[in-house]
Amino acid sequence: MKDTLNEVGNLVLVKNKSKLNYLILVLAFFIGVGSIYYTNLIVNQLKKREQNQIELFAKTLETLANDNTGFNDNVMLLFEEIVVANETIPVIVAYKNGEPKIHKNLKVPAALNGDEIDLFLKEEIENMRSQYPPIVIANKNQKGEVFNYEYIFYKNSSLLTQLQFYPYVQLTVIAIFFFLSYLAFSFSRTAEQNRVWVGLAKETAHQLGTPLSSLMAWVEYLKADPEYENKDITRELDKDIKKLELITSRFSSIGSVPVLKEENIVEVIRTSINYLQTRISSKVKINLHHEQPELLAKVNKPLFDWVIENICKNAVDAMSGVGIIDINMSRSGEGKIIIDIADTGKGIPKSLVAQIFQPGFTTKKRGWGLGLTLVKRIIENYHQGKIFIKSSEAQAGTTFRIVLNG
Ligand SMILES: Nc1ncnc2c1ncn2[C@@H]1O[C@H](COP(=O)(O)OP(=O)(O)OP(=O)(O)O)[C@@H](O)[C@H]1O
Ligand SMILES: [Mg+2]
Repeated sequence: MKDTLNEVGNLVLVKNKSKLNYLILVLAFFIGVGSIYYTNLIVNQLKKREQNQIELFAKTLETLANDNTGFNDNVMLLFEEIVVANETIPVIVAYKNGEPKIHKNLKVPAALNGDEIDLFLKEEIENMRSQYPPIVIANKNQKGEVFNYEYIFYKNSSLLTQLQFYPYVQLTVIAIFFFLSYLAFSFSRTAEQNRVWVGLAKETAHQLGTPLSSLMAWVEYLKADPEYENKDITRELDKDIKKLELITSRFSSIGSVPVLKEENIVEVIRTSINYLQTRISSKVKINLHHEQPELLAKVNKPLFDWVIENICKNAVDAMSGVGIIDINMSRSGEGKIIIDIADTGKGIPKSLVAQIFQPGFTTKKRGWGLGLTLVKRIIENYHQGKIFIKSSEAQAGTTFRIVLNG
């Protein structure tokens, strides 16, 4: 019962985690779209207001130009309140022939001389024309006949331009911030995980060391006694001590920087399989395939054995103790050593493929969900290699691929 609960608990935990990630992504998307949409609303309102303002500006200029009453107070007031008061929208009033007449709210570089200013304003006119068509104002004579035209060019105020880009700048800054925080967080989490792995492994190796050397001494003592020398008990004890030594050496290798030695992978795997074959169901057949008799790669033998053992044990479980494991070893074009381990088991559903290497993920009653985490750690962190599921099909089997640097 407890095991089933444990299993369900683990699955729920992993599922909830991916649901949470999904929720955060959706939320981030809506915040992003929402903030762009809202700023766009404001930008459009402001645009409308600026449009009105510039039209008023144009009308005023037109009225002033055609004013025959002389500069009375009303005219001055209009001029002050509308023309002078526009301190935000950049405008250029140009003659019919395109020559600029006056300009306002433009940042003309101080270093320019007369001709250069003219050129600058003409370029600016083209730029403005691409944003908005100019407003035409008519100059009339005293009879009210139009004798000339002037053009008012204008563009968005810098406030409006800034506001248009603001949400993108803001969202980019926030995204960079979150990305950096995520990096820092995952870096510190990896560092913490490393400390836990290394610490636990070292401590286990250390704890096993004392009773193990004591046991070895006892066996030597028994061997020296003619009564026990060739008895089963001494042989069995010897075997168990060898197994304990192997476990200790695995833990001590995980707990320190492991020494990698150039080994013939074919032989390493053959020895490992010979050892395993006697310990698993006799209805599971393990076949080795390799074209070359020698495939050299740098490995730490106790750790690499552990990898093969874990993957094969999982395969045996997936086949419920009946089936075939094919191990294919080869060298790739780039000189890498490729090891494919294929079983004829129940396969891994696509939805779980991304999770099987996560610590604590198991679908077994008595599983810890640590086997593949350890395997990945050994291959990627200690051997700078790669491990992944090459293929998996329901009820047909799974193939794991290990890539080592040759
Ligand atoms: N060859 C395989 N075929 C099908 N499913 C597999 C295979 N190998 C692994 N799995 C799935 O991946 C899960 C995680 O495997 P892992 O070895 O990490 O943990 P475990 O075997 O459940 O427990 P333990 O910690 O005892 O190894 C398994 O529970 C199983 O569902
Ligand atoms: Mg396992």
